[in-house]
Amino acid sequence: MIEFHHTYKAYSNGYKALRDVTFKIGKGEFVFLTGPSGAGKTTMFKLISAYDRPTSGNVRVAGREISLLKPRELPFFRRHVGVVYQDFRLLRNRTVFENVALPLVVRGESTLSIERRVMDVLDQVSLFSKKDCLPLEMSGGEQQRVAIARALVHQPEVLIADEPTGNLDPTLTNEIIALLEKANARGTTVFVATHDHDLVKRKKARRIDINLGEIQLDQ
Ligand SMILES: Nc1ncnc2c1ncn2[C@@H]1O[C@H](COP(=O)(O)OP(=O)(O)OP(=O)(O)O)[C@@H](O)[C@H]1O
Ligand SMILES: [Mg+2]
Repeated sequence: MIEFHHTYKAYSNGYKALRDVTFKIGKGEFVFLTGPSGAGKTTMFKLISAYDRPTSGNVRVAGREISLLKPRELPFFRRHVGVVYQDFRLLRNRTVFENVALPLVVRGESTLSIERRVMDVLDQVSLFSKKDCLPLEMSGGEQQRVAIARALVHQPEVLIADEPTGNLDPTLTNEIIALLEKANARGTTVFVATHDHDLVKRKKARRIDINLGEIQLDQ
């Protein structure tokens, strides 16, 4: 479902953020991505979601080679991938409902089907009662759950979550991980970047560890 093959990524200033990265994540897997700040985790996620391209080597996601996607193919490609960003990226002047509905609105779904999907996913993240709130009227953990709902609303095959439990207390961390596990149980391939080593130990999932753009461990 996600495959890197001898992948390099250098930024325009020449910095090599990924160096010869090779790994494969199969359909339905749950995998953690760990590594210190600056290791290259967000860079890897930018390639998976086709927001950036590798300098050399391959990145294949949901059967498509990222480097070969044409601009007009990007919206269709992104239907396969749900992204939870490190900084949430919620629209602050839109309600919870409107934020979560956005991927479906962009896709031109009918109002009725949008309403049904958004209500269902807000129920899953226990935020049904907050659907008319603005993001800034909510706690950090609630905003994080809205970001997860938005990433899941179009039922993507792949979910990538960049530090989805950063700055959350242990109870909220467990809640967020339970949400990701629920999506995984429904067949979504889940790839989660985290700094939380206790969490990784507890969950006993596969872990890919990177440092300075190179894979240090994959087990
Ligand atoms: N646009 C850019 N131009 C140049 N260098 C960049 C750019 N974006 C990231 N980098 C560098 O690439 C390296 C990897 O960055 P990345 O954001 O992938 O790290 P990360 O593992 O996500 O770190 P964190 O845990 O702090 O989020 C860092 O050294 C960073 O300074
Ligand atoms: Mg990052």
